[in-house]
Amino acid sequence: LSKIEIKLGDIPEGKNMTFKWRGKPLFVRHRTEKEIAAEADVNLGELRDPQHDKDRVLNPKWVIVLGVCTHLGCVPIANAGEYGGYYCPCHGSHYDASGRIRKGPAPLNLEVPYYEFPDEETVIDP
Ligand code: FES
Repeated sequence: LSKIEIKLGDIPEGKNMTFKWRGKPLFVRHRTEKEIAAEADVNLGELRDPQHDKDRVLNPKWVIVLGVCTHLGCVPIANAGEYGGYYCPCHGSHYDASGRIRKGPAPLNLEVPYYEFPDEETVIDP
């Protein structure tokens, strides 16, 4: 029941789509080449919760994270905020296009759930 299959072909480049998974919002973001390059280049020393982009994605084109702000759990807005990723309007947390916290009160990066790519679809396993 908690398994979800997402057709990635339905998500245009540059867009983020929100799905519901286990009662939580799941963000699936189709990154542009520019976003991929920018996030791969971030100096870990700038990060509050240091994590390299390559350790947060299986395929750099796709960012898959829970849409739950790590501050107090609001749902961030995609393609907003000072770092071009996500912005949480509740208390002003800014996340980058890897879902990493960059500014504001949230302590941690957006959580990456376990998932697999069988082919052109994404399967989230229980
Ligand atoms: Fe997101 Fe407070 S819940 S900034």
